[in-house]
Amino acid sequence: MTIKTVGVLGCGLMGSGIAQVCAAAGYRTIVREVEEPFLEKGMERIRKFLRDGVEKGKVTAEAEGKTLQNLSGTTALAELESSDLIIEAIIENVEEKTKAFAALDAIVRSHTIFCSNTSSLCITELASKTKRPDRFAGLHFFNPVPIMKLVEVIRALTTSDETYQTVFSFAQSLGKEPITAPDKPGFIVNRLLVPYLLDAIRSYEHGLGTIEDIDKGMKLGCGYPMGPFTLLDFVGLDTTYYIANIMFEEYREPAYAPPPLLKRMVLAGRMGKKSGQGFYKY
Ligand code: CAA
Repeated sequence: MTIKTVGVLGCGLMGSGIAQVCAAAGYRTIVREVEEPFLEKGMERIRKFLRDGVEKGKVTAEAEGKTLQNLSGTTALAELESSDLIIEAIIENVEEKTKAFAALDAIVRSHTIFCSNTSSLCITELASKTKRPDRFAGLHFFNPVPIMKLVEVIRALTTSDETYQTVFSFAQSLGKEPITAPDKPGFIVNRLLVPYLLDAIRSYEHGLGTIEDIDKGMKLGCGYPMGPFTLLDFVGLDTTYYIANIMFEEYREPAYAPPPLLKRMVLAGRMGKKSGQGFYKY
């Protein structure tokens, strides 16, 4: 099927990045946020990224203009009515996502495909609660969305072959490199990344080294762009804690159990970069 109009639900860090790449790829893109100030913050993040991109010589002024032209923001859910494909990027909560998809089910056309950007929730569960379980898939982007090349395409048990092919091709049309991941907690990337991050915290608690030295070790010794503690702060400690809990609940393996220090840091409000303090101060 042909996709012309893309709806994005949520204009936070992930939603704004997703809306940006869809608009940049030439899709008419409508991004919806619940309240005007959140929408404006997300739209400004997009404008700033494009402005900086032009300054750095990474984005042409023409591409900047076209992206902004293809993009519109709204607080009215009804404006997503004409979307051929909708990508949901709201809070990681099954009830909230289910409610949002139910509201969309009532207004969009029958061919519209639903995708969730969830990093941890069960795609089959989300799909089964809609009226279109065959036209539902996971489409998991990575932060920062405009820069990271990867997208995971996740098939629910109910996803039809046609939907899977359409979503996979759509991801390619965004200039991304899609991989096919199973509908199991963590998909492919977080299944490997989260135990590594949790192990870094556990190792630190056991006196392996300082935070700075562990980070330096992995960065300079393995060529990773950032060490595990910098990455934890970047991803968000609350997000990591949340994903780890979901993975542990399903797999029941110690590798996915959040270490005590992570829980305490979240309780203390040290979420990482976004809160001004995590393993480092910002
Ligand atoms: N417009 C266009 N391009 C831009 C840009 C802009 N405004 N800002 C930066 N770029 C480009 C840069 O020009 C550069 O491109 P080249 O490599 O071609 O030169 C590239 O983006 C990287 O930018 P910088 O060199 O300025 O920044 P950096 O070297 O510090 O890299 C980073 C930044 C890419 C984020 C890097 O630190 C990194 O890869 N970090 C790890 C990120 C990561 O692991 N993300 C996944 C998190 S897990 C997740 O998201 C999933 C989940 O479910 C939790």
